[in-house]
Amino acid sequence: MPVMDKKVTVVGAGFVGATTAQRIIEKNLAHVVLHDVIEGMPQGKALDMMQSACLENFEASILGTNDPASYRDSDIVVVTSGVARKPGMSRDDLLRINAKIVGEVSDNIKKYAPNAIVIIVSNPLDVMTYLAGIKTGFSKNRVMGMAGVLDSARFRAFIAMELAVAHRDVEAMVLGGHGDDMVPLSRYSTVSGIGIEALLPREKIDAMIDRTRKGGAEIVNFLKTGSAYYAPSSSVVQMVKSILLDEKRILPCAAWCTGQYGVQNQFVGVPVRLGKNGVEQIIELKLTDPELKQLQASASHVAESVKLLGL
Ligand code: 2OP
Repeated sequence: MPVMDKKVTVVGAGFVGATTAQRIIEKNLAHVVLHDVIEGMPQGKALDMMQSACLENFEASILGTNDPASYRDSDIVVVTSGVARKPGMSRDDLLRINAKIVGEVSDNIKKYAPNAIVIIVSNPLDVMTYLAGIKTGFSKNRVMGMAGVLDSARFRAFIAMELAVAHRDVEAMVLGGHGDDMVPLSRYSTVSGIGIEALLPREKIDAMIDRTRKGGAEIVNFLKTGSAYYAPSSSVVQMVKSILLDEKRILPCAAWCTGQYGVQNQFVGVPVRLGKNGVEQIIELKLTDPELKQLQASASHVAESVKLLGL
């Protein structure tokens, strides 16, 4: 594919940000600006990636910078800045420190890229998305959080591994906040259209649901000094691609709800149609009472964290 005439800024040149940038340019999806406050880091990583272009066969450019003015004319800004979890920490433990960082980034996006679509990746995900929504003042279809694609990808991987089937044949849906009370929906999870409830005993499914909820922490516990970045960056890129190519994929994302699923004026993970206008529609699935209660409990947890920020 020839390089598209699009620009994506990735804010934060840590593992998630740099791997996201790498995946975007290697697919020729857009020219990338990689921004970080640490001097030299985005420049060094960008130069290193540029020198792989002739080997990986891509023409997209990447610029590493410490200057937020470089966000100008971005079609999409992906925000990965902030500190990552250490073993024993919940995503909520990152609230105050990351709120300061994401708040400043949001001000810069508003100033330099007022027409961009914003994808938040920093944790705690749903609260940081809320913060970016308020701070930028952008219409809510242009602000969203990446979490459901990742949580669903984890659930899909566990299903594929358990059944020893092709990963690409597995679809899954995980809703709710990106926290320990997220809502993996086994009723809407399939292998080539066959519901997993017909393929696996309930206790196996429950074990996979539990592992999905703790999927991020499982990796933090292995890595000790950071959190996951391969699947998170792939998840961001699936969203970026759906927007840039106007693919209109149906993906679970943290989106602004205005009464859907009984959630009012809040960002939480729901299935959306993602296209050139960002979140173009929220899909309302028929949920059972227990599923709906779980989703609303997860949304209330997010609302409590938003309150802590005093927004
Ligand atoms: C994860 O789930 C860090 O929240 C991210 O891996």
